[in-house]
Amino acid sequence: MTKSQLKTKPIQETTFLISGATDGIGKVTALEIAKLGAKVTLIGRNPDKTKQVTDEIRMLSNNEAVDYFIADLSIQENIYNLAEAYKSRHSVCDVLINNAGALFTSRKESHDGIEMTFALNHLNYFLLTHLMLPLMPQDTHSRIINVSSMAHMSGRINFDDIQQRRFYNGWAAYAQSKLANVLLAGKLEQTSISTNALHPGIVATKFAANNGFMGSLLRNAMNLFSISPEEGSKTSIYLATSEEVVGINGKYFDNMKALRSSSESYDKAIAKRLWELSLEMTGLKEPYVQKAA
Ligand SMILES: NC(=O)c1ccc[n+]([C@@H]2O[C@H](COP(=O)([O-])OP(=O)(O)OC[C@H]3O[C@@H](n4cnc5c(N)ncnc54)[C@H](OP(=O)(O)O)[C@@H]3O)[C@@H](O)[C@H]2O)c1
Repeated sequence: MTKSQLKTKPIQETTFLISGATDGIGKVTALEIAKLGAKVTLIGRNPDKTKQVTDEIRMLSNNEAVDYFIADLSIQENIYNLAEAYKSRHSVCDVLINNAGALFTSRKESHDGIEMTFALNHLNYFLLTHLMLPLMPQDTHSRIINVSSMAHMSGRINFDDIQQRRFYNGWAAYAQSKLANVLLAGKLEQTSISTNALHPGIVATKFAANNGFMGSLLRNAMNLFSISPEEGSKTSIYLATSEEVVGINGKYFDNMKALRSSSESYDKAIAKRLWELSLEMTGLKEPYVQKAA
């Protein structure tokens, strides 16, 4: 469907699902979109914190159409349950913002026994996207936004040891996962659903603070040249709400501009292999097919 054939939907009727919405970039993204009067659903992993943030966003945005679900997104069963719970409350998801993510300086495995960075930063985006697709309208501009990172530029998809069992390097695992976020963009057959990826900037959030002393050092070093979460959420909000990007698909944005991503991110053979591996690792039965190369 071409851009001119897509119907427009008022923002007050548009539903947004945002992961990692309890802190940092995701929290500001949820607040600013709620201020526009949209229907906003937060995903958080900590029930008390998520309820508190939801109440805060409702109050600051003067918008009661803000709700939440609880899911640890590194656990696939939780993502499947989340999708079912979402469907029982909402019939539509117009915009999915895959934002929850983290860096792990030492190797950890998820509840499912999958290396944590790959599980949380990539398989979570992949699985939640697929489970939301049936709820995404085809006659309006439905959008999927993957919060990636410029770290993807140094990333390689290491098919020989994708979970870094032999040798773990936290940065390489992070860069691989963020490259996977870019590789997923634009890969859906459904032409009216756009998928774009973005780098938010180097943003002063709690990112990397989950890594003890080393994490605090890294966090403090990043803070020396970080932008605020308000600045860092601008590209997510732009891709989620702007009319300027209707019909734009499969691009990588930085500072609200489409830029060239790493050369590996354009490699269709790598994208296809990653897609097939991700289907296998998430147990998806009737997947949406990858766009023909
Ligand atoms: N900050 C940067 O400089 C920067 C740069 C490039 C890209 N990014 C990307 O931006 C995204 C947001 O990061 P941020 O900087 O806003 O970090 P943040 O302040 O640490 O926020 C991360 C969010 O993800 C949630 N989260 C973490 N693990 C989760 C899990 N297992 N299940 C469900 N939710 C989980 C956190 O929940 P809690 O509130 O419960 O902790 C929080 O809401 C990430 O994808 C990151 O890779 C950040």
